[in-house]
Amino acid sequence: MSALHSDIPLQKDEQGRDIVLSAQDVTVAFGSKVVLDKLNLNIYRGEILGFVGASGAGKSVLLRTVLRLLPRRSGKIEILGEDYDTLSEPERNQLDMRLGVLFQQGALFSSLTVKENIQVPMREYLDLPQEMMDELALMKIRMVGLAADAADKYPSELSGGMIKRAALARALALDPDLVFLDEPTSGLDPIGATEFDELIARLRDTLGLTVYMVTHDLDSLFSVCDRIAVLGQKRVLVEGTVEDMLACDDPWVQSYFRGKRARSIVPREDIRGHNDDKGARSANGREK
Ligand SMILES: Nc1ncnc2c1ncn2[C@@H]1O[C@H](COP(=O)(O)OP(=O)(O)OP(=O)(O)O)[C@@H](O)[C@H]1O
Ligand SMILES: [Mg+2]
Repeated sequence: MSALHSDIPLQKDEQGRDIVLSAQDVTVAFGSKVVLDKLNLNIYRGEILGFVGASGAGKSVLLRTVLRLLPRRSGKIEILGEDYDTLSEPERNQLDMRLGVLFQQGALFSSLTVKENIQVPMREYLDLPQEMMDELALMKIRMVGLAADAADKYPSELSGGMIKRAALARALALDPDLVFLDEPTSGLDPIGATEFDELIARLRDTLGLTVYMVTHDLDSLFSVCDRIAVLGQKRVLVEGTVEDMLACDDPWVQSYFRGKRARSIVPREDIRGHNDDKGARSANGREK
């Protein structure tokens, strides 16, 4: 098993980008309450996609739908070029192994140590001797910047930031290609959140990960995300760079990206002259 699966043949979009995940016309409802209505979204190989939207808009519902934890009413979802609906059970397991998840709630099992938590997916999907699983768990613990002695601690003995890191280590347990992070920096102080963002960017660079990150954190969106997608009115309202967000005239997007909070983060010239170099930069302001 290799950490970098860059040889997977994937479908490309019209700009030649490899599509790692595509949701097409996805509708999800609870009884008569429609949460997602014909939603469309692509995620491309190697990017960190920031997914935002008002509380209750359906960000976690989309994540759970993509992971088949919630049923969808209609639409198609392809992950890493595969459609779960057409796969056999062993093929589904193979695909599941290539996905890592950090859930918004219940990041870790409280009755298991950090090491045991990281080994949960290993036990589920692999048949490895305990010694090897211990070694692998320690490797992941180091990878996310935790000290080795965190391995035998229980979640209640860890700080919020350490719990997030341990949960990330568990998400990386099987060397996934695509990682889903639901609010990974919520509850962390700004320094802890920045460090966590940097860790994610570093792991993306070294492991060749594609990252789907649900976040409310404007700092994360501007500093670490390559692209942003906004969920609103039961679909993806707008996707693209910070400039695209600034140019969008939807009221929620305007107040989110051009409001007081944003003004303290986005460079002023971006807010003033957002049309000047539209599309020339990624969401985090890097030259393309
Ligand atoms: N299992 C469920 N059964 C019924 N309704 C649900 C279920 N899960 C979510 N919902 C509803 O779907 C809507 C979207 O919820 P979701 O958790 O996806 O919001 P969110 O965008 O993740 O919000 P937040 O930013 O607060 O995490 C909410 O109205 C929620 O009450
Ligand atoms: Mg949520």
